[in-house]
Amino acid sequence: MHFSTRTNFGSEADPLTEALALRRRAGLPVLDLTESNPTRCGLGLDRELLLPPLSGDANCTYRAEPFGPSAAREAIVSAYYGERGVTVAPEQMVLTASTSEAYSFLFRLFCEPGDHVMVPQPSYPLFDLLARFCDVETRLYPLRFHHRWQTDLHALEAAITPRTRAIVVVHPNNPTGHFAAAEERQELDRLAARHGLPLLVDEVFLDYPVETGSGAPSARSFAAMPHREALTFVMSGLSKVLALPQMKLAWTLVLGLGAQQREALHRLEYVADTYLSVAVPGANAAASWLRHAGQLHAQVLARVRTNLAVLDRELAQWPLASRLPVEGGWSVLLRLPALEPDGEFALRLLQERGVLVHPGSFFGLPGRGWVVVSLLLPEGDLQRGLQALFKGVRDTAEEVHSQVHRNLSSNS
Ligand SMILES: Cc1ncc(COP(=O)(O)O)c(C=O)c1O
Repeated sequence: MHFSTRTNFGSEADPLTEALALRRRAGLPVLDLTESNPTRCGLGLDRELLLPPLSGDANCTYRAEPFGPSAAREAIVSAYYGERGVTVAPEQMVLTASTSEAYSFLFRLFCEPGDHVMVPQPSYPLFDLLARFCDVETRLYPLRFHHRWQTDLHALEAAITPRTRAIVVVHPNNPTGHFAAAEERQELDRLAARHGLPLLVDEVFLDYPVETGSGAPSARSFAAMPHREALTFVMSGLSKVLALPQMKLAWTLVLGLGAQQREALHRLEYVADTYLSVAVPGANAAASWLRHAGQLHAQVLARVRTNLAVLDRELAQWPLASRLPVEGGWSVLLRLPALEPDGEFALRLLQERGVLVHPGSFFGLPGRGWVVVSLLLPEGDLQRGLQALFKGVRDTAEEVHSQVHRNLSSNS
């Protein structure tokens, strides 16, 4: 029997995952500060709004449409993009089951085996696997923090090779939460066009500007750019837009340059037609659900902002820790004393205090002193978790301090 190398992950689980499974098996409590599934945080549309649109007669029959039901595409184009002042045609939209699936369609559209796609660092950890399953490699380009996060455009351009096939941009990025500023969007567009590369823009968190106002120019969609030189694919989906990960509906807009755009749509039609992966009931219900998008965004943003206030109150008590600004999204980056590799810190925190956090290195942040915490949790859970986390930080700092003290005394 031959198993492919692309699915060869070895038999060892990552220590944090293993410790979590062990703890759960032993029935021990876990304060999970990584929880970012809105349906487990009491967020989402009420069942009275969610379920009735799924029972329409249109769901009793099936007509295969490669890009997904046209009625759903029309609804998303007008209700979602129309609201944002963006004019696109439903024919420019490809529906998929998820944004993750959209990535794989696009990697297959552009890459031969062994080609590269540029992905930001720090960012969404799934890129490695998404690329790997398409026999594609990721090349990292750095984001830098100086008052706010920005793309290092020079480093990005320098990292492009003859085998680079696409540039991925996450707007706003996960977990840094930053939006690409309007000028940065133009620069990225020009840079991609100079190298004949498409921009693959992931806007799943676009509707959640937290400390950036929703009217801020930086919080606008790449689809709303007044001028465009590069072929651009803008992805989003219901898992974040309506906090409905269970409905498995996402979309990709194909924007720009006439002939290239037509070619991309023509090729994508074959890919999409091969899988036909969109479930009709959810797609048919999207128009109805999207009418409540504003209410849902307000609900989620209220939770995120309340949690930031909880965090700030806790941080005021624990001067060893601080946080970065949260322009948008559902998570926050905490800066802690860089006393040990962050994976080891996260493991100890789970084993000794039952608190689960994402070490920053999980997202490609340098390996010490960063953790990522979800802002979707009910506020009481977040507060309890943060208190245990900061006690853990303080105790580690004290241990290190006394160890240094002991070493100094034994040396003198
Ligand atoms: C930046 C980013 N893109 C895409 C996704 C996945 O979206 P989907 O559920 O549509 O695959 C996530 C999930 O957290 C994400 O953080």
